[in-house]
Amino acid sequence: MLSVEICEQNIHLHDHPTVWMPTEFAQLFGKVLDQRIEDDMKVLEIGIGSGVLAILAGQKGAHVTGFDIHPDAADLCERNWELNQLDKSLCHFTESDMFSALQNHHENSFELVWSNAPTFPGEPDEERSHRNDFEMAGEEGRYVLDNMITESTKWLKKGGRMVTVATSKQSWRKTQELMNKHWSQWEVVLTQDLLLADHYHAYIDYWLEKEKHDEEARIFEVDGEWYQRLYLIEGTHA
Ligand SMILES: C[S@@+](CC[C@H](N)C(=O)[O-])C[C@H]1O[C@@H](n2cnc3c(N)ncnc32)[C@H](O)[C@@H]1O
Repeated sequence: MLSVEICEQNIHLHDHPTVWMPTEFAQLFGKVLDQRIEDDMKVLEIGIGSGVLAILAGQKGAHVTGFDIHPDAADLCERNWELNQLDKSLCHFTESDMFSALQNHHENSFELVWSNAPTFPGEPDEERSHRNDFEMAGEEGRYVLDNMITESTKWLKKGGRMVTVATSKQSWRKTQELMNKHWSQWEVVLTQDLLLADHYHAYIDYWLEKEKHDEEARIFEVDGEWYQRLYLIEGTHA
């Protein structure tokens, strides 16, 4: 079991061998969510993992729907929700690729949709045996990001907001172009340069090749260490 502190709230989590466990960035993401979630709000998280951010929302009184492509994540989140003594009737966790588990009556129903999205480039092996295998997000690692940008307005109430992470690894230029196309109102709410974690090192040549091709830096080197730039972006469904 582990505990994570976000905005002076403690979140207790059962561990799982292949479900994503919170990194420091989840705490940063949580701080941004903490300022946006209010009692009784109806929220949706894509990519719940251990449930750390969903539980944060639950502790603030939100009604939380949470999806993950990992077949064990929903069950883990339910157990973690209970571990934090939250009311079971206020959460609904299920396995889903992006928004696919939603039905017509869910259209325009959420006030906040977010994803601490996976960003590994490439397709997963058929047999996903490591937690990183669930982080594979297609060409340039953009699958979840692009879907968040292009599909979330359908599920948001007017005035509702979408928050997601985008990184320089995925092409910040493409992200801005797509945001400008689909959101009349959007902004960057947080930017951070983050040391490239060891699990990304296998892709360094891939990103350098991309950079050569489209003249846009994906990762950058400082004192012999590789970094990526993270952007937390927020769109408002005008
Ligand atoms: C970076 S982890 C974030 C987990 C958790 N929200 C956190 O902040 O620690 C991304 C999560 O997205 C899930 N995921 C990957 N592809 C997905 C997809 N197509 N649809 C839904 N969830 C997906 C992964 O299984 C993983 O749990």
